[in-house]
Amino acid sequence: MFEIAPSILSADFARLADEIKSVEEGGATVLHVDVMDGHFVPNITIGLPVVRSLRKVTDMTIDCHLMISDPGIYAEQFVKAGADMVSVHVEADSHLHRTLASIRSAGAKAGIAINPATSLALLDEVLPFADFVLIMSVNPGFGGQAFISTATEKVRKLRQMIVERGLATRIEIDGGIDGNTIMEVVEAGAEILVAGSAIFGKPSPTEAVKELIDKATVWV
Ligand code: DX5
Ligand code: ZN
Repeated sequence: MFEIAPSILSADFARLADEIKSVEEGGATVLHVDVMDGHFVPNITIGLPVVRSLRKVTDMTIDCHLMISDPGIYAEQFVKAGADMVSVHVEADSHLHRTLASIRSAGAKAGIAINPATSLALLDEVLPFADFVLIMSVNPGFGGQAFISTATEKVRKLRQMIVERGLATRIEIDGGIDGNTIMEVVEAGAEILVAGSAIFGKPSPTEAVKELIDKATVWV
């Protein structure tokens, strides 16, 4: 079953609690939190104190997408701050297996995020140690970018790898997901659908979530 994961990157940070309520009302179940360090990606966003505050105002699944160098240093701290899911980039971590294990032992779902230019071949050894894989369908760093169309085939290929190995790994997709692109990625096998500007960029985030759910439902 798919889930809609609004990315707060496009929300109004001065009224986050209200923004969260509005997407919850629309039926969103996962809250996607983009953590950027100005080093792994050319942008800086938010960190641990904000995750702690979010935890106090919502029961939604908090999904921290760490776009930071050497995420192994911080991953466990995000779980302690309240994250239920934490993903780290395969391109940013020389000790990915260790980091995934530390996220799981801290009590959260461990995810591997992968950039558009990075081959799925890099997941070959480590896939059994992840609860989910986050396929980037834009280059990480900013909201509002156009969907990179090759991501759909990448989702399909990953789904095939997961099925062939008998794993229960979930697939998340992030970047350029809107009313036009959501159907093809769901059909290809994506289950956790991140959307930032397509939700918080709209006059009613509640209605925007409902519309995305309607479109994605056609395929399930
Ligand atoms: C980009 C972030 C995304 C971003 C998506 O680096 O990882 O989560 O918020 O924004 P949209 O949905 O606008 O492409
Ligand atoms: Zn993200």
